[in-house]
Amino acid sequence: MIVKKPKLQPPSFAPFPPAWLWLMDEAIPQLVKSEYSPRESWKDKPFSKEDAHFFFKGIHELSELFTEERPKGMPAYFQHPKYRSAYLLYFLPLQAAKFLTLFSLHPAAFEAALDHGRKNGILRIADLGSGPGTASLSFLLLLLQQKLKTGEQLPQIELDWFDTNESIMKDGKALVDQLSNCFPKLRGRVHVNIHVTPWWKSPTLLAQKELSLTFMGHILNESSAPQRDSSSFWKMILEQTGGGGTLLVEPAARKPSQILSFLRNQFFESELIENDPTRLWGPCLHSGECPLTEGRDWCHFSIPTQIPGEWFKGFSEALSTERQWVKFSYLWLTSLQYRSQRQHPSARRVISDSLSQGPKPTVLLCEPQTPGRWTSPTRNSIYRGDIVNI
Ligand SMILES: C[S@@+](CC[C@H](N)C(=O)[O-])C[C@H]1O[C@@H](n2cnc3c(N)ncnc32)[C@H](O)[C@@H]1O
Repeated sequence: MIVKKPKLQPPSFAPFPPAWLWLMDEAIPQLVKSEYSPRESWKDKPFSKEDAHFFFKGIHELSELFTEERPKGMPAYFQHPKYRSAYLLYFLPLQAAKFLTLFSLHPAAFEAALDHGRKNGILRIADLGSGPGTASLSFLLLLLQQKLKTGEQLPQIELDWFDTNESIMKDGKALVDQLSNCFPKLRGRVHVNIHVTPWWKSPTLLAQKELSLTFMGHILNESSAPQRDSSSFWKMILEQTGGGGTLLVEPAARKPSQILSFLRNQFFESELIENDPTRLWGPCLHSGECPLTEGRDWCHFSIPTQIPGEWFKGFSEALSTERQWVKFSYLWLTSLQYRSQRQHPSARRVISDSLSQGPKPTVLLCEPQTPGRWTSPTRNSIYRGDIVNI
């Protein structure tokens, strides 16, 4: 038996590109200060500790709303400026850290999106329930790190954002514009199209435009599509998305994670995607029934990380939630043309922390229908998300 190198705990894990600090510590605080300061005279001055104190109230309140199981009729919190500023300052970096983590866990998916964009001349991304475009901004930060050959340019990038709140998308667009103006690699190459509409209308509005990537970040937990429309929505969006495929990210909580498991089963059962594990970038290694769709356990991951940024650190401390981890559940479907690598038949994803106190860890493994239980023959630590060969 070989225990493979951990797959969800990369050994030299550094997903934060250099432009991260510019965005999180300079551009966002300055945007918040100029758009959301209650007094005109404050607006031109640099973001200070007093500002952090002032805006923290909204961060604290929004964090309470987000940590509770989402109420049924989730309030439209972005209608309130206090919560838009709170999201930009604290939740945007937190969620962006998750997207960057996922890009670095699945580099082939990121490459597929880029390759598709290069071949088509346009790299088009649909960001559904975009908020301030967290996923798109994370993608751009990583693109800035790409090594280009001499004379090579990135393709034209079109970001199609769909959200019911226009103001938060406008804030995000201002950040994308600043980012692309500040960094020559992106200058003149990025365009944001704002669509103020529910996410399930996106395929119709995008008509026949081919996508290199679709993001749905932290949205299914708060808003469900009308039953009547949802299967046609999924059919259209999956057909329309080439390149890097469709990435759904949700909080690590039971309900949203089980929604993802349910959707995944449906996609395979209804043959919206063919029954083959190469149609998933992750986390699943098989295309049988998800073993965690119901019940006590659910499929989620915690990755150790230190999210950089002075203001983020201060807000985390004030919330008493110093972030040593990013936690999420996710489902990343490939497109038809770009598939994931087939894994060895004995490879299994670990889907629990160690269940035993003894020196040899016992863990649950992802297998069709029912989780497998497995005790490692060695004393090596095994983490949730690792891939082991049994
Ligand atoms: C938690 S935020 C996530 C924002 C962003 N995707 C991220 O990961 O940071 C949820 C977003 O979904 C939007 N939203 C809620 N219901 C929606 C709907 N039916 N259609 C489109 N957007 C919706 C909200 O306005 C908000 O911007």
